[in-house]
Amino acid sequence: MSQPLRVLFVCLGNICRSPLAEVVVKSVAETQGLSDKFHFESAGTGSWHVGGSADPRSASKALEKGLTLENHRAQQITQLNIHDWDIFVAMDRDNRDSLIRMGAKPEQVLMMRAFEGLEAAPDVPDPYYGGAHGFEDAYQMLKENAQGLLDDLLAKYVR
Ligand code: 4NP
Repeated sequence: MSQPLRVLFVCLGNICRSPLAEVVVKSVAETQGLSDKFHFESAGTGSWHVGGSADPRSASKALEKGLTLENHRAQQITQLNIHDWDIFVAMDRDNRDSLIRMGAKPEQVLMMRAFEGLEAAPDVPDPYYGGAHGFEDAYQMLKENAQGLLDDLLAKYVR
């Protein structure tokens, strides 16, 4: 059997959006018997929260949806570990730009919201500071794109 595709979900702090993206997509993959095709993790481009738990608001959103972030520990993606991954799924354009500055190839970086049939993928807005888009919105955006992302990965990168 071929090696699993190594897919890293990326946001800024790795405590709100990308950990939730990781468990949402992982659970859809599991229900479809695709677990052995992928290795999913998440990371932040910033170092502030390294080693810390998921934001409690993200953790409770996960629980509400039958998922868990209990074992999440934040990690950082840098130019030192950028080559450990096949594909990056960026939550927003800043994350994407950061990944490319670290040495990711543009074609390795997908946008999380690229699967809504829009011409340009919108960002998953950062819910950390509050504001118009909260954690339920973030969850809905992730859920809406999970199947399209998996289909795209299967079609293009998984043998
Ligand atoms: P995330 O949200 O990128 O979705 O994990 C944030 C978490 C923490 C910070 C910024 C965004 N922060 O500045 O500490």
